[in-house]
Amino acid sequence: MIKTSQSKKIIIANWKMNPKTANEALNLFDSVKKSAEKLKNVQTVICPPDIFLGEIAKKKRGKKVSIGAQDVSVMKKGAFTGEISVAMLKNLGVEYVIVGHSERRALGDSNEIVYEKLKLVLDAGIKAILCVGEKERNETGEYFEFLARQIKSAASADLKGKIKNLIIAYEPIWAIGKTADEAIDASSLHEMVLFIKKVLTEIFGKTAADKTSVLYGGSVENENADDLIKNSEINGFLVGHESLDAEKISEILEVVNESQ
Ligand code: PGA
Repeated sequence: MIKTSQSKKIIIANWKMNPKTANEALNLFDSVKKSAEKLKNVQTVICPPDIFLGEIAKKKRGKKVSIGAQDVSVMKKGAFTGEISVAMLKNLGVEYVIVGHSERRALGDSNEIVYEKLKLVLDAGIKAILCVGEKERNETGEYFEFLARQIKSAASADLKGKIKNLIIAYEPIWAIGKTADEAIDASSLHEMVLFIKKVLTEIFGKTAADKTSVLYGGSVENENADDLIKNSEINGFLVGHESLDAEKISEILEVVNESQ
């Protein structure tokens, strides 16, 4: 067992393009907040669509629940129709920003863009959740190389001074949006965590790598959360579809809280 220095686990609730109305969003936030506030060992980060961030930010109280954004503009400021800057997010009280989610990469975010966004977020003193993960696996294990390239192109050595705010979310695309039995198993995940730590050590050195949280995302449900959190050395989860159901995400939060 490797010992990680992070005692508190992190659960990111990524709502993606849901729900449809502000009312539903506020209700979901309230319910999750109620459960999350009782838990000592978990930091819960709710990432609603930007359009609801302002209202939700007003309701945020206390330290156990944070709000996050699902993406940020690669541009700092100016005439960029439809974009939302890191300064705008910061002004709302956003403490976390997801960068390089596979669904953003599929819409055009290259490794270079992901690096630029990561730098902007870290420069602003906000925690960045850098998503990485292979599309598929084959017998020859090329996905290890792919993953190393993805990490190194974004989390590059010039960011070393700011990486206390860096979180890595390992999200293999083949496991996203499915069910618990199609997600990764705990021993394969453990292998990936060790590999990611090794890559981070190559870039930033061992001390910094040890301190960097590595999360897992991809069909995390109540059914697999317990096994994954106990047997893979991850520091938490990035949860998609299950985070839209207050009861289900609360169960995951409790399982993780109890896993200490
Ligand atoms: P999922 O999504 O939990 O629905 O698989 C995870 C993600 O894409 O972040």
